[in-house]
Amino acid sequence: MSTPIRKVEQVITPQAASDGAGVRLKRSIATQTLDYLDPFLLFDHFGSANPDDYIAGFPMHPHRGIETVTYMLAGEVNHRDSIGNSGTIGPGDLQWMTAGRGILHEEMPKTRQGRMEGFQLWVNLPAKDKMMTPRYRDISADQIPVVEEDSGAVIRVVAGEVDGVRGPVRDVIADPTYLDITLSADKSFSYPTPLGHTVFAYVFEGQADFGRFEDDTEATASGPQLVVFADGEQIQVHTQDEPVRFLLVMGKPLGEPIARYGPFVMNTWEEIQQTLREIRAGTFAK
Ligand code: FE2
Repeated sequence: MSTPIRKVEQVITPQAASDGAGVRLKRSIATQTLDYLDPFLLFDHFGSANPDDYIAGFPMHPHRGIETVTYMLAGEVNHRDSIGNSGTIGPGDLQWMTAGRGILHEEMPKTRQGRMEGFQLWVNLPAKDKMMTPRYRDISADQIPVVEEDSGAVIRVVAGEVDGVRGPVRDVIADPTYLDITLSADKSFSYPTPLGHTVFAYVFEGQADFGRFEDDTEATASGPQLVVFADGEQIQVHTQDEPVRFLLVMGKPLGEPIARYGPFVMNTWEEIQQTLREIRAGTFAK
């Protein structure tokens, strides 16, 4: 029995965007090209050696109905939220925040020196959990296991499992897999993917072949680009004369209607109106 290899649906070059108080970033989910990749609502890559591109940060702002995952490659960010958490995340660290019924938080670069780089992913919450109690976890780089495979792949396991090694992020509602994979030149890597689950790769260094498009042409992606896979039971990645580093993210689609308004993602417009009434009345996240 052969295991069906996922074809590549799309290779997307991110769009330049600005968010927070003027942070420049590359957005590849929550755009006109790719509005929603159920259960993933947004994917941003911020990365610059120029402090003017990031120093304004993300001052205090609200969220409801989602979870956000921030993974840092370089630089440091101070964060603070309305449920009493504060701290700093640095290179290789991760924060996983469940907004649930409501949270206010800020994410501000710690210094104007050097390079700042990382990713933020928004994961949707199902209707039954949208109003859950908010929660927050900080995961430091040394808590994220690294697996070196015979294939030559070096994998930081943030969430999900590789060769029996499980990542530290486990109780996220959508049960996502989140891997940071480095593959040297002239190597192959494959990974099993549950049928029906959404799978994407985000290449941020180097280049690789991620399989074939539906028309059987080769799907190559080079950083920064997002690869969206069709359904199937595994993905296969090959490098040629260049190494590659990419995130591999997967999750179970919710299949529910969404009503999205900025940092709030609910199922109906009435729920969005209710959220805005709470903001105006000063009762949100209280
Ligand atoms: Fe936020």
